[in-house]
Parts: sequence; C-alpha cells; structure tokens
Amino acid sequence: MVQRIKSASILVVDDDLGVRESLKMILMDKYYVSTASTIEEAADSLKIIEPELIFLDIKISKANGLDFLKQMQARNSTIPIVMITAFPSSQTAITAFRSGAFDYIIKPFEPSEIHTAAERALQRRIESSEKDKLVDNLRMAVHKNFFSTTEALLLAIDAKDSYTAGHSKRVSLLFGLVAKELGMSEEQIVKLRYGAFLHDIGKIGVRDDILTKSGHLTEEEFFLMKQHPEIGYNILEPINFLKESLPIVRYHHEWYNGEGYPDGLKGAEIPQEVAIFSTIDAYDALTTDRHYHKKYSNQEAFKIITEGIGTQFIPTLTEKVLSIIKKCYETLPLADIN
Ligand SMILES: [Fe+2]
Repeated sequence: MVQRIKSASILVVDDDLGVRESLKMILMDKYYVSTASTIEEAADSLKIIEPELIFLDIKISKANGLDFLKQMQARNSTIPIVMITAFPSSQTAITAFRSGAFDYIIKPFEPSEIHTAAERALQRRIESSEKDKLVDNLRMAVHKNFFSTTEALLLAIDAKDSYTAGHSKRVSLLFGLVAKELGMSEEQIVKLRYGAFLHDIGKIGVRDDILTKSGHLTEEEFFLMKQHPEIGYNILEPINFLKESLPIVRYHHEWYNGEGYPDGLKGAEIPQEVAIFSTIDAYDALTTDRHYHKKYSNQEAFKIITEGIGTQFIPTLTEKVLSIIKKCYETLPLADIN
C-alpha cells in the first residue's frame, strides 16, 4: 500500500506560478507531480495521463475552478480533488464540498498540511477502488450462481425434452456471432445472449406429454405450449440484470405478419434483436431432430426460412442473418454442440 501511495501521480492546477512551484517542491519527493496553469491545460493533461489526485485552485484566471470540479464529477471521475483558495469563506467551502471536492486548503499553506491532505485523499481513493473491486467480484459471483441455477433448470427441461439444453447453447452461441457481424456492441451482445440462452425456460411449465408428443398437437395442447414464452418472461422478469434480454424470451414466437404469439406483435413492433433471434431459433429447430420432424439439411432449412420471409420473418434482415449463418456454418462445428 505504501508503495502504491509513493508512486502516485498528482496534478496541480493553479494560475499562480509561485503556488505551482511550491506545491511541486513539497510533493515531488514522494509523488510524480505535473502542473497546469489553466483549466484547458489541465484538460489536455488529463487526456494524456489520469492522475491519482488533483490540487485545484478555486479562482483560476479566466475560469472558475468549481466549474472544472463539477465537470470532473459529471465524468464520474474517481480522482479526488483538493481545492486551494486564498479567499476562504464558509460559502465557497460548502459549495466546493457539495460539488464533490475531497478537501479544502487555504493559502498560505504549510508543507505538512499538503502532505496530510494528499495522503488522506490517496488513501480514500485506494479504499474506494478496493470497495468497487469487491462489489464487482460479488456481482460476478451472483451472475455465475444465477447462470449455474438457470443451466440446471434448462437441464431439468432437457430431462423432459431432450433437445432444449443443446438447442439453447447453440442458439446463444450463434446469436453472439451473428450479432457481432451485424455490428452490435460487445456489451449488448453479452446481455442479449442471456435471453437467447434462456428463451425456452418457460417450457418448465409445460406438461411433459405435450413437449415430447411426436404427432401434431391438438388445439388445447398447442394452446398450453404457447404459454411458454410468457411463463419464461414471468420467471425472469424480477431479475434486474436480465431486463434487456426479456424481449427475446417473450417475443421469440412472434411473426412479422402479426400471427405469432403470445402478443400478436406485427412488423416493426417486433424488436430487431428478437427478429434476428427468431431466424436463428428457427434455423436450429429445423436442422436438428425433433419429436415431430427429422432434421432438415442446411439448404432445406434456408429454403424454408426464405419462404417464410414476409409472413413469419422480417424482410432484408432475415436474408442478412441467413447469409451470416451460412458463413458460420462453414467455419464452425455448430452441429457438434449438444
Ligand atoms: Fe420457444
């Protein structure tokens, strides 16, 4: 910890050369010190290297140090800022603290005051970054546990309907590849892949004999089968970090012409990520053995999906998705994932 404080870098922002130099002299034995005489210079310096601490003059020429302080807070910066002033007033101190300043030093200052302020600020920064790391680790542990649990749920459905778990893994993988090719951000893809992985989780609430029936479903059985997107949605809806993946779970059986289920969405009402996913879901369903049909070849599956463009599938986007799937199929052993 001592080592980390010693190697810290500090930026001093003050229009008074005397103050800049004296702060540099006081701090340079323990820290790397850089200086800026204007807010613009400080902003430029931040683009190159982010210091661990800033000493900032409240009344810097042609600018208000408090504005710079507010800008730093707006950037969600974790750099502690110690304000310096030659004209102390309780109001400026209150404003500085309310704007996010860590500490407040009055000119003329003693070297010991500067050292104490620097050490306290750097110590606080270390503590808060350790807290952030702890929170991140906890969050990851929660996610990991959650997905082990949901994978167990999917395996439970697999015991009733032997194709669900492998299908979920394949469509989630393929969705990630297609979404990347379509230019979606990595962050968005990670979230949406959860939806792809869990899209059929609602089948846990569908009777075994319906899930495994080899012939056509009766009207009543189909009615019960059609509940699974809504059941899945209701299972996952309370989980905050899955919010963005819920549309895939709820709408993956909606049709472009409005004849899908459960909500009968039509055309542009169906979110784009859902339209992408529905094509992938259909492709995988067609190219694997099911209780109600033998698997189709790739070419047959592409033909069936293409014929469904304009009724089940959205025009243009579906063609793009199919061409990406073709490319992925040629380079990846998707069929081996089960
Ligand atoms: Fe489904």
